[in-house]
Amino acid sequence: MIGKLNHMAIAVPDLAAATAIYRDTLGAKVSPPQPEPDHGVTVVFVELDNTKIELLHPLGEGSPIQGFLDKNPSGGIHHVCYEVADILASRDHLKEQGARVLGDGEPKIGAHGKPVLFLHPKDFNGTLIELEQA
Ligand code: CO
Repeated sequence: MIGKLNHMAIAVPDLAAATAIYRDTLGAKVSPPQPEPDHGVTVVFVELDNTKIELLHPLGEGSPIQGFLDKNPSGGIHHVCYEVADILASRDHLKEQGARVLGDGEPKIGAHGKPVLFLHPKDFNGTLIELEQA
């Protein structure tokens, strides 16, 4: 069911410092910071040959990644995103398998303008999984 790794997201306490690490220390191509108020984050995209890394920093009150940063003050891997061909069929399959879909179970438009869902980390080895319809 799952296809390519679309991205890995890393929550960071200092977006400029994290961007500099990827750009200068690791020598990667990075985007300018992109505010996404609907998602409560500012994102820097790190472009790799085979996937992307997203550096996430809280934006505004009640950001969904603030709690994660409170628990992990130096930052950490927040989620991995796998591509699926049909997000509704994937959701129904996962529910049949007993996996928990977060929120109301309806896909939302994600950071790339495509439908996404999140799966409960307790059902997936402690890893928050995002599914994106490719
Ligand atoms: Co994501």
